[in-house]
Amino acid sequence: MDWSGGFTGLIVFLVLPSNIIGVWWVVGSPVTFDRNSICRRSKKIKGNPSQREICRKEPEIAEAVIGGSELGMNECQYQLRFSKWNCSTYQNSVGRVLKRADTREETALVNALTAAGATYSLTQACSMGDLNQCGCAAESHGNTDGGKETTWEWGGCGDDIDYGYMKSREFVDLQHRKRSDIRTLITLHNNEAGRAIIKFNMFRECKCHGLSGSCALQTCWKKMPSFRKVGTLLKQRFNGAAKVMGGNTGEAIIPEDSTVKSPTVDDLVYSTESHDFCRPNRKLGSLGTQGRHCNGTSALVGGCDILCCGRGATTYEIQRSEPCRCRFHWCCDVECDTCNRTQVIHVCNGYDYGQRKS
Ligand SMILES: *[C@@H]1O[C@H](CO)[C@@H](O)[C@H](O)[C@H]1NC(C)=O
Ligand SMILES: *[C@@H]1O[C@H](CO)[C@@H](O)[C@H](O)[C@H]1NC(C)=O
Ligand SMILES: *[C@@H]1O[C@H](CO)[C@@H](O)[C@H](O)[C@H]1NC(C)=O
Repeated sequence: MDWSGGFTGLIVFLVLPSNIIGVWWVVGSPVTFDRNSICRRSKKIKGNPSQREICRKEPEIAEAVIGGSELGMNECQYQLRFSKWNCSTYQNSVGRVLKRADTREETALVNALTAAGATYSLTQACSMGDLNQCGCAAESHGNTDGGKETTWEWGGCGDDIDYGYMKSREFVDLQHRKRSDIRTLITLHNNEAGRAIIKFNMFRECKCHGLSGSCALQTCWKKMPSFRKVGTLLKQRFNGAAKVMGGNTGEAIIPEDSTVKSPTVDDLVYSTESHDFCRPNRKLGSLGTQGRHCNGTSALVGGCDILCCGRGATTYEIQRSEPCRCRFHWCCDVECDTCNRTQVIHVCNGYDYGQRKS
Protein backbone atom coordinates (compact mmCIF):
# COMPACT_ATOMS: atom_id res chain seq x y z
CA MET A 1 0.00 0.00 0.00
CA ASP A 2 3.06 2.17 -0.24
CA TRP A 3 2.04 3.63 -3.57
CA SER A 4 -1.27 5.09 -2.37
CA GLY A 5 0.24 8.28 -0.97
CA GLY A 6 2.13 9.03 -4.15
CA PHE A 7 -0.90 8.20 -6.20
CA THR A 8 -3.16 10.61 -4.27
CA GLY A 9 -0.49 13.27 -4.53
CA LEU A 10 -0.40 12.86 -8.27
CA ILE A 11 -4.17 13.17 -8.56
CA VAL A 12 -4.23 16.32 -6.47
CA PHE A 13 -1.44 17.75 -8.57
CA LEU A 14 -3.23 16.99 -11.79
CA VAL A 15 -6.68 18.07 -10.71
CA LEU A 16 -6.05 21.19 -8.68
CA PRO A 17 -4.72 23.68 -11.25
CA SER A 18 -7.73 23.49 -13.56
CA ASN A 19 -10.09 23.52 -10.61
CA ILE A 20 -8.87 26.78 -9.24
CA ILE A 21 -9.07 28.84 -12.39
CA GLY A 22 -10.69 32.03 -11.28
CA VAL A 23 -11.36 30.71 -7.81
CA TRP A 24 -8.22 31.89 -6.17
CA TRP A 25 -9.52 31.61 -2.63
CA VAL A 26 -11.23 28.23 -2.85
CA VAL A 27 -8.74 25.62 -1.76
CA GLY A 28 -10.22 22.23 -2.48
CA SER A 29 -13.05 22.19 -0.03
CA PRO A 30 -14.40 23.79 1.99
CA VAL A 31 -14.16 27.45 1.08
CA THR A 32 -11.30 29.10 2.90
CA PHE A 33 -10.23 32.62 3.70
CA ASP A 34 -7.10 31.66 5.51
CA ARG A 35 -4.03 33.52 4.29
CA ASN A 36 -1.65 30.72 5.12
CA SER A 37 -3.42 28.09 3.11
CA ILE A 38 -4.03 30.39 0.15
CA CYS A 39 -0.43 31.53 0.13
CA ARG A 40 0.94 28.03 0.68
CA ARG A 41 -1.07 26.77 -2.24
CA SER A 42 0.04 29.55 -4.56
CA LYS A 43 3.60 28.53 -3.79
CA LYS A 44 3.00 24.88 -4.58
CA ILE A 45 1.26 25.10 -7.88
CA LYS A 46 2.19 27.19 -10.86
CA GLY A 47 -0.61 29.57 -10.12
CA ASN A 48 -0.48 33.29 -10.27
CA PRO A 49 3.14 34.48 -10.07
CA SER A 50 2.23 37.84 -8.60
CA GLN A 51 0.04 36.20 -5.96
CA ARG A 52 3.09 34.24 -4.88
CA GLU A 53 5.23 37.37 -4.86
CA ILE A 54 2.74 39.32 -2.75
CA CYS A 55 2.36 36.44 -0.30
CA ARG A 56 6.12 36.34 0.15
CA LYS A 57 7.04 40.01 0.16
CA GLU A 58 3.87 41.73 1.33
CA PRO A 59 1.94 39.35 3.58
CA GLU A 60 -0.10 42.22 5.04
CA ILE A 61 -1.42 43.01 1.56
CA ALA A 62 -2.38 39.38 1.07
CA GLU A 63 -4.15 39.54 4.44
CA ALA A 64 -6.21 42.59 3.44
CA VAL A 65 -7.13 41.14 0.05
CA ILE A 66 -8.19 37.79 1.48
CA GLY A 67 -10.15 39.44 4.29
CA GLY A 68 -11.90 41.48 1.63
CA SER A 69 -13.01 38.45 -0.30
CA GLU A 70 -14.64 37.19 2.87
CA LEU A 71 -16.45 40.51 3.10
CA GLY A 72 -17.62 39.83 -0.46
CA MET A 73 -18.90 36.37 0.48
CA ASN A 74 -20.86 37.73 3.42
CA GLU A 75 -22.42 40.32 1.14
CA CYS A 76 -23.29 37.58 -1.33
CA GLN A 77 -25.18 35.78 1.44
CA TYR A 78 -27.02 38.96 2.30
CA GLN A 79 -27.94 39.80 -1.30
CA LEU A 80 -29.14 36.28 -2.06
CA ARG A 81 -30.85 35.65 1.27
CA PHE A 82 -34.22 35.25 -0.45
CA SER A 83 -32.93 33.31 -3.46
CA LYS A 84 -33.02 29.58 -4.04
CA TRP A 85 -29.26 29.45 -4.15
CA ASN A 86 -28.26 31.61 -1.21
CA CYS A 87 -24.47 31.62 -1.43
CA SER A 88 -24.24 29.29 1.55
CA THR A 89 -20.93 27.66 2.29
CA TYR A 90 -22.77 24.72 3.87
CA GLN A 91 -21.60 21.45 2.29
CA ASN A 92 -19.24 23.59 0.26
CA SER A 93 -22.12 24.72 -1.93
CA VAL A 94 -20.23 27.83 -3.08
CA GLY A 95 -17.07 25.88 -3.81
CA ARG A 96 -18.97 23.37 -5.90
CA VAL A 97 -20.70 26.05 -7.94
CA LEU A 98 -17.43 27.90 -8.53
CA LYS A 99 -15.43 24.89 -9.51
CA ARG A 100 -17.66 23.89 -12.37
CA ALA A 101 -16.17 24.20 -15.82
CA ASP A 102 -18.90 26.56 -17.02
CA THR A 103 -19.85 29.89 -15.53
CA ARG A 104 -23.32 30.78 -14.42
CA GLU A 105 -24.87 33.95 -13.09
CA GLU A 106 -24.09 32.78 -9.57
CA THR A 107 -20.43 32.28 -10.43
CA ALA A 108 -20.39 35.77 -11.92
CA LEU A 109 -21.83 37.36 -8.79
CA VAL A 110 -19.49 35.58 -6.40
CA ASN A 111 -16.44 36.43 -8.49
CA ALA A 112 -17.45 40.08 -8.82
CA LEU A 113 -18.30 40.45 -5.14
CA THR A 114 -15.11 38.85 -3.87
CA ALA A 115 -12.96 40.87 -6.28
CA ALA A 116 -14.82 44.00 -5.15
CA GLY A 117 -14.34 43.02 -1.51
CA ALA A 118 -10.62 42.57 -2.06
CA THR A 119 -10.34 46.03 -3.63
CA TYR A 120 -12.52 47.53 -0.93
CA SER A 121 -10.68 46.22 2.10
CA LEU A 122 -7.26 46.93 0.62
CA THR A 123 -8.23 50.52 -0.15
CA GLN A 124 -9.73 50.89 3.31
CA ALA A 125 -6.56 49.54 4.93
CA CYS A 126 -4.61 52.20 3.03
CA SER A 127 -6.85 55.00 4.34
CA MET A 128 -6.66 53.68 7.89
CA GLY A 129 -2.89 53.86 7.77
CA ASP A 130 -2.57 50.11 8.32
CA LEU A 131 -0.15 49.55 5.45
CA ASN A 132 3.26 50.96 4.67
CA GLN A 133 2.81 50.70 0.93
CA CYS A 134 -0.08 53.13 0.65
CA GLY A 135 -2.02 55.83 2.44
CA CYS A 136 -4.53 58.54 1.65
CA ALA A 137 -5.17 59.50 -1.94
CA ALA A 138 -3.42 62.62 -3.05
CA GLU A 139 -6.00 64.59 -4.99
CA SER A 140 -4.59 67.24 -7.24
CA HIS A 141 -4.57 70.61 -5.59
CA GLY A 142 -7.34 73.01 -6.37
CA ASN A 143 -10.74 71.69 -7.29
CA THR A 144 -12.47 70.76 -10.46
CA ASP A 145 -15.09 73.52 -10.48
CA GLY A 146 -12.56 75.47 -12.56
CA GLY A 147 -13.25 79.18 -12.97
CA LYS A 148 -16.25 79.36 -10.66
CA GLU A 149 -15.84 80.85 -7.26
CA THR A 150 -14.52 78.06 -5.07
CA THR A 151 -16.05 77.19 -1.76
CA TRP A 152 -14.24 73.93 -1.25
CA GLU A 153 -10.83 72.40 -1.69
CA TRP A 154 -9.34 68.94 -1.61
CA GLY A 155 -7.99 67.86 1.74
CA GLY A 156 -8.54 65.30 4.44
CA CYS A 157 -7.90 61.66 3.71
CA GLY A 158 -9.24 60.39 0.42
CA ASP A 159 -9.59 56.69 -0.40
CA ASP A 160 -6.77 55.65 -2.70
CA ILE A 161 -8.93 53.53 -4.99
CA ASP A 162 -6.26 53.46 -7.69
CA TYR A 163 -3.84 51.65 -5.44
CA GLY A 164 -6.48 49.27 -4.06
CA TYR A 165 -7.68 48.55 -7.57
CA MET A 166 -4.24 47.87 -8.98
CA LYS A 167 -2.91 45.77 -6.13
CA SER A 168 -6.01 43.64 -5.62
CA ARG A 169 -6.12 43.03 -9.36
CA GLU A 170 -2.55 41.79 -9.29
CA PHE A 171 -3.43 39.36 -6.55
CA VAL A 172 -6.83 38.14 -7.71
CA ASP A 173 -6.64 37.92 -11.50
CA LEU A 174 -4.95 34.81 -12.66
CA GLN A 175 -2.37 35.61 -15.26
CA HIS A 176 -0.96 32.24 -16.13
CA ARG A 177 -3.72 31.18 -18.47
CA LYS A 178 -3.91 32.04 -22.11
CA ARG A 179 -6.59 34.67 -22.44
CA SER A 180 -8.28 32.79 -25.24
CA ASP A 181 -10.01 30.39 -22.90
CA ILE A 182 -13.59 31.59 -22.56
CA ARG A 183 -13.95 30.64 -18.91
CA THR A 184 -10.90 32.73 -18.05
CA LEU A 185 -12.18 35.64 -20.13
CA ILE A 186 -15.50 35.53 -18.32
CA THR A 187 -13.90 35.29 -14.90
CA LEU A 188 -11.59 38.20 -15.61
CA HIS A 189 -14.49 40.25 -16.92
CA ASN A 190 -16.57 39.65 -13.79
CA ASN A 191 -13.65 40.34 -11.46
CA GLU A 192 -13.16 43.62 -13.28
CA ALA A 193 -16.87 44.44 -13.02
CA GLY A 194 -16.64 44.12 -9.25
CA ARG A 195 -13.69 46.46 -9.00
CA ALA A 196 -15.17 48.90 -11.54
CA ILE A 197 -18.40 49.27 -9.57
CA ILE A 198 -16.41 50.73 -6.70
CA LYS A 199 -14.37 52.99 -8.95
CA PHE A 200 -17.44 54.31 -10.77
CA ASN A 201 -19.26 55.07 -7.53
CA MET A 202 -16.66 57.02 -5.64
CA PHE A 203 -18.21 60.15 -4.20
CA ARG A 204 -17.10 63.41 -2.68
CA GLU A 205 -17.47 63.79 1.03
CA CYS A 206 -16.96 67.20 2.59
CA LYS A 207 -16.54 68.85 5.94
CA CYS A 208 -17.43 72.45 6.74
CA HIS A 209 -15.04 74.98 8.17
CA GLY A 210 -15.51 78.60 9.13
CA LEU A 211 -17.33 80.44 11.88
CA SER A 212 -19.78 78.22 13.66
CA GLY A 213 -22.07 76.73 11.06
CA SER A 214 -21.17 79.21 8.37
CA CYS A 215 -19.50 76.66 6.13
CA ALA A 216 -17.54 79.38 4.36
CA LEU A 217 -15.00 76.82 3.29
CA GLN A 218 -15.22 73.10 2.84
CA THR A 219 -12.55 70.44 2.67
CA CYS A 220 -13.46 67.46 0.52
CA TRP A 221 -12.08 64.03 -0.22
CA LYS A 222 -12.98 61.06 -2.38
CA LYS A 223 -14.65 58.21 -0.61
CA MET A 224 -15.75 54.72 -1.62
CA PRO A 225 -19.47 53.88 -1.52
CA SER A 226 -20.54 51.65 1.37
CA PHE A 227 -19.97 47.99 0.68
CA ARG A 228 -23.71 47.39 1.03
CA LYS A 229 -24.20 49.75 -1.90
CA VAL A 230 -21.55 47.91 -3.90
CA GLY A 231 -23.41 44.67 -3.17
CA THR A 232 -26.77 46.12 -4.13
CA LEU A 233 -25.42 47.46 -7.43
CA LEU A 234 -23.79 44.14 -8.27
CA LYS A 235 -27.01 42.33 -7.41
CA GLN A 236 -28.74 44.50 -10.02
CA ARG A 237 -26.09 43.49 -12.57
CA PHE A 238 -26.66 39.88 -11.53
CA ASN A 239 -30.36 40.20 -12.32
CA GLY A 240 -29.50 41.56 -15.76
CA ALA A 241 -26.42 39.43 -16.46
CA ALA A 242 -25.58 38.84 -20.13
CA LYS A 243 -25.10 35.41 -21.65
CA VAL A 244 -21.97 35.40 -23.76
CA MET A 245 -19.82 33.13 -25.88
CA GLY A 246 -16.33 33.25 -27.33
CA GLY A 247 -15.86 35.53 -30.34
CA ASN A 248 -14.29 34.39 -33.59
CA THR A 249 -10.82 35.52 -32.64
CA GLY A 250 -11.04 33.73 -29.32
CA GLU A 251 -9.80 36.82 -27.57
CA ALA A 252 -13.09 38.44 -26.74
CA ILE A 253 -16.50 37.52 -25.44
CA ILE A 254 -19.58 38.52 -27.37
CA PRO A 255 -23.28 38.34 -26.51
CA GLU A 256 -24.84 35.05 -27.52
CA ASP A 257 -27.81 36.93 -28.86
CA SER A 258 -26.41 39.12 -31.63
CA THR A 259 -29.18 41.70 -31.22
CA VAL A 260 -27.99 42.48 -27.70
CA LYS A 261 -25.32 45.12 -27.22
CA SER A 262 -21.92 44.07 -25.96
CA PRO A 263 -21.58 43.96 -22.19
CA THR A 264 -19.92 47.00 -20.67
CA VAL A 265 -17.10 46.88 -18.14
CA ASP A 266 -19.44 46.75 -15.16
CA ASP A 267 -21.94 44.23 -16.54
CA LEU A 268 -21.84 40.65 -15.31
CA VAL A 269 -21.52 37.87 -17.87
CA TYR A 270 -21.94 34.08 -17.86
CA SER A 271 -21.89 31.21 -20.32
CA THR A 272 -24.39 28.64 -19.11
CA GLU A 273 -27.97 28.86 -17.88
CA SER A 274 -28.31 28.12 -14.18
CA HIS A 275 -30.13 25.19 -12.67
CA ASP A 276 -33.20 26.08 -10.74
CA PHE A 277 -31.54 24.94 -7.48
CA CYS A 278 -34.89 23.53 -6.33
CA ARG A 279 -33.71 20.02 -5.55
CA PRO A 280 -30.68 19.08 -3.54
CA ASN A 281 -27.82 18.03 -5.78
CA ARG A 282 -24.43 17.85 -4.14
CA LYS A 283 -22.51 17.75 -7.38
CA LEU A 284 -24.07 20.98 -8.58
CA GLY A 285 -23.75 22.71 -5.22
CA SER A 286 -27.52 22.84 -4.81
CA LEU A 287 -28.84 22.44 -1.28
CA GLY A 288 -32.49 22.49 -2.40
CA THR A 289 -35.07 24.81 -0.93
CA GLN A 290 -36.84 22.42 1.43
CA GLY A 291 -36.92 23.90 4.90
CA ARG A 292 -36.29 27.47 3.75
CA HIS A 293 -38.38 30.20 5.34
CA CYS A 294 -40.46 32.01 2.76
CA ASN A 295 -42.76 35.01 2.61
CA GLY A 296 -46.41 33.97 2.51
CA THR A 297 -47.69 37.21 0.99
CA SER A 298 -45.07 37.97 -1.62
CA ALA A 299 -45.33 36.87 -5.25
CA LEU A 300 -41.73 37.88 -5.85
CA VAL A 301 -38.36 36.28 -5.13
CA GLY A 302 -38.51 35.03 -1.55
CA GLY A 303 -42.25 34.46 -1.73
CA CYS A 304 -43.36 30.89 -1.04
CA ASP A 305 -44.59 30.34 -4.62
CA ILE A 306 -41.17 30.92 -6.12
CA LEU A 307 -38.87 29.82 -3.34
CA CYS A 308 -40.64 26.52 -2.73
CA CYS A 309 -40.70 25.68 -6.47
CA GLY A 310 -44.41 24.91 -6.44
CA ARG A 311 -44.20 22.38 -3.60
CA GLY A 312 -46.03 24.68 -1.25
CA ALA A 313 -45.17 25.68 2.25
CA THR A 314 -46.27 24.61 5.69
CA THR A 315 -47.38 27.31 8.07
CA TYR A 316 -46.35 27.20 11.70
CA GLU A 317 -47.22 29.41 14.60
CA ILE A 318 -44.38 29.87 16.95
CA GLN A 319 -44.49 31.53 20.35
CA ARG A 320 -41.84 34.04 21.14
CA SER A 321 -41.48 35.50 24.56
CA GLU A 322 -39.88 38.87 24.74
CA PRO A 323 -39.55 41.65 27.30
CA CYS A 324 -42.35 44.23 27.13
CA ARG A 325 -44.07 47.03 29.16
CA CYS A 326 -40.73 48.02 30.58
CA ARG A 327 -40.70 50.50 33.49
CA PHE A 328 -37.83 52.54 34.78
CA HIS A 329 -37.30 52.62 38.56
CA TRP A 330 -35.21 55.37 40.16
CA CYS A 331 -32.37 54.53 40.26
CA CYS A 332 -31.35 52.44 38.17
CA ASP A 333 -33.51 49.44 37.42
CA VAL A 334 -35.57 48.53 34.46
CA GLU A 335 -38.39 46.14 35.11
CA CYS A 336 -40.12 44.39 32.25
CA ASP A 337 -42.94 41.89 31.82
CA THR A 338 -42.57 38.95 29.56
CA CYS A 339 -45.00 38.98 26.69
CA ASN A 340 -45.81 36.10 24.42
CA ARG A 341 -46.05 36.99 20.80
CA THR A 342 -47.32 34.62 18.16
CA GLN A 343 -45.33 34.64 14.97
CA VAL A 344 -46.46 32.95 11.79
CA ILE A 345 -43.74 31.40 9.69
CA HIS A 346 -43.89 29.62 6.36
CA VAL A 347 -41.46 26.83 5.61
CA CYS A 348 -40.96 25.27 2.18
CA ASN A 349 -42.07 21.66 1.83
CA GLY A 350 -39.75 18.97 0.52
CA TYR A 351 -40.45 16.87 -2.56
CA ASP A 352 -41.59 13.93 -0.46
CA TYR A 353 -44.08 16.06 1.50
CA GLY A 354 -47.23 14.52 -0.02
CA GLN A 355 -46.00 10.97 0.46
CA ARG A 356 -44.97 11.50 4.02
CA LYS A 357 -48.44 12.77 4.91
CA SER A 358 -50.31 9.79 3.51
C1 LIG B 1 -29.47 29.08 2.87
O1 LIG B 1 -30.06 27.89 2.45
C2 LIG B 1 -29.84 26.77 3.28
C3 LIG B 1 -30.48 25.54 2.69
O2 LIG B 1 -31.02 25.72 1.44
C4 LIG B 1 -30.36 27.05 4.67
O3 LIG B 1 -30.05 25.98 5.53
C5 LIG B 1 -29.75 28.33 5.22
O4 LIG B 1 -30.35 28.68 6.45
C6 LIG B 1 -29.94 29.49 4.24
N1 LIG B 1 -29.23 30.64 4.71
C7 LIG B 1 -29.83 31.82 4.86
C8 LIG B 1 -28.95 32.92 5.32
O5 LIG B 1 -31.00 31.98 4.64
C1 LIG C 1 -43.35 39.78 2.70
O1 LIG C 1 -43.54 40.45 1.47
C2 LIG C 1 -44.32 41.63 1.59
C3 LIG C 1 -44.60 42.14 0.18
O2 LIG C 1 -43.49 42.04 -0.64
C4 LIG C 1 -43.56 42.62 2.47
O3 LIG C 1 -44.32 43.81 2.60
C5 LIG C 1 -43.33 42.00 3.83
O4 LIG C 1 -42.55 42.86 4.63
C6 LIG C 1 -42.63 40.67 3.70
N1 LIG C 1 -42.59 40.01 5.01
C7 LIG C 1 -41.47 39.55 5.56
C8 LIG C 1 -41.60 38.87 6.86
O5 LIG C 1 -40.37 39.69 5.03
C1 LIG D 1 -46.19 33.07 28.12
O1 LIG D 1 -45.97 31.68 27.93
C2 LIG D 1 -45.43 30.99 29.05
C3 LIG D 1 -45.15 29.56 28.66
O2 LIG D 1 -45.29 29.34 27.29
C4 LIG D 1 -46.42 31.09 30.21
O3 LIG D 1 -45.87 30.47 31.34
C5 LIG D 1 -46.70 32.55 30.50
O4 LIG D 1 -47.70 32.63 31.50
C6 LIG D 1 -47.18 33.28 29.28
N1 LIG D 1 -47.27 34.71 29.57
C7 LIG D 1 -48.35 35.43 29.26
C8 LIG D 1 -48.31 36.89 29.64
O5 LIG D 1 -49.31 34.98 28.67
